[in-house]
Amino acid sequence: MEQYLIRGGNSLVGEVEIGGAKNAALPILAASVMTDDTVHIENVPDVRDTNVLMDAMAGIGIIVKKEDRHSVTINASNINNTVVCDDNIKKIRASYYLIGAMLGKYKTAEVTLPGGCDIGCRAIDQHIKGFRALGAEVVLEHGMIRTKAERLVGSHIYMDVVSVGATINVMLAASLAEGKTIIENAAKEPHVVDVANFLNSMGANIKGAGTDVIRIRGVQRLHGTDYAIVPDQIEAGTFMLAAAATKGDVMVKNVIPKHLESISAKLIETGCEVSEHGDQVRVVCSRNLRHTHIKTLPYPGFPTDMQPQITVVLGLAEGTSIVTESIFENRFKYVDELIRMGADIKVEGNTAIIDGVSKYTGAGISVPDLRAGAALVLAALSAEGESVVDNIRYIQRGYEDFDIKLRNLGADIRVVERDTDYRNFKLLTS
Ligand code: EPZ
Repeated sequence: MEQYLIRGGNSLVGEVEIGGAKNAALPILAASVMTDDTVHIENVPDVRDTNVLMDAMAGIGIIVKKEDRHSVTINASNINNTVVCDDNIKKIRASYYLIGAMLGKYKTAEVTLPGGCDIGCRAIDQHIKGFRALGAEVVLEHGMIRTKAERLVGSHIYMDVVSVGATINVMLAASLAEGKTIIENAAKEPHVVDVANFLNSMGANIKGAGTDVIRIRGVQRLHGTDYAIVPDQIEAGTFMLAAAATKGDVMVKNVIPKHLESISAKLIETGCEVSEHGDQVRVVCSRNLRHTHIKTLPYPGFPTDMQPQITVVLGLAEGTSIVTESIFENRFKYVDELIRMGADIKVEGNTAIIDGVSKYTGAGISVPDLRAGAALVLAALSAEGESVVDNIRYIQRGYEDFDIKLRNLGADIRVVERDTDYRNFKLLTS
């Protein structure tokens, strides 16, 4: 089992290149099954979740060919099954995008119920409501979600909660339904817009993605396309906060600054300097951090996927900060680990009350989920002394070459096999 060994204290300085958005790549890969033509996708992040999804797709006869590390060609004309019960697919949330995609194309799909990070109850009732509104039967049994329809017919769907997954899933199925679908109270995240752009490049007719109301006029068939995935807003935000946590100076390259506005605004409130330079954002942190308050919200609000990272930064800010998590009810599990590193944080319900400390101290820490894992790494990088970070497989789900990119910025971080390499590391550093 791999671990990170981190010796904290180095300010991160330099440039980092951001990859394609994981949460756009997953539905886009799944949506490639919706045509018999060949689809070419670029800027696909080489992370565990995208690879698990591509393996599962290959398992049902779809030709998935990696042209290079970030480009993939997909052809689904020889698909031999619409049942996906691959053991690994259970572990990723985005398995459910195969339901919307295959239901749209084949009018039937059976997929193992999704797993993903354990950050709260992750209902799929809005997905089901959307599929049923389009005329599909949906049954949950034996750990599978089974859907089928004689025909899919467009409908007017009001989402009871703003859901990225449900918005995208309904958009997928409705693209090949008969007539017009309207999704109200739709999610507006950049990856929702990216999936709509991808589908439109395949001949779909989707308007309004990025607003509360998405209008889809179903088409009879989709065709092949050549598409590049948008930069990852959350990976970019994580490196911006890494600069803040380590009092560094980082140029985050290949980003869409508009997608980062809520993060930039909060960094400026804490006293960091944030400047935009075309498709780059520079974060400089040269003075003591100041406290601020944050509430996670659907886009364009502050992203829940950045909540652990900003909490780590605010844990080092002067004064008392309050972070309210309004999307997932169990997303403060990492706080216990942070407290072991010296943080002064109390969690009450969905709120963390943070009294800033002057420093964290290195410790053995265990990662509970993807974004919390990245946040704990930031804490370890800023800490005095050494940290050993366990369960880094969670981080590898969504960050490509996280350790390498950090090392290029001056971080002292190494991946080692548990125990043996750690002993060698101790020998080298003692
Ligand atoms: C996506 O999850 C992302 N995952 C998450 O990123 C992200 O945290 C989340 O959106 C919010 O931005 C992927 O894209 C693979 P939701 P998703 O449906 O689609 C409730 C990461 O770290 N809800 O927008 O599962 C739900 O319980 C991951 O990359 C229902 O009640 O999130 C939650 O409270 C973690 N019924 C809220 O809506 C439903 O049918 C938002 O969930 C669906 C959701």
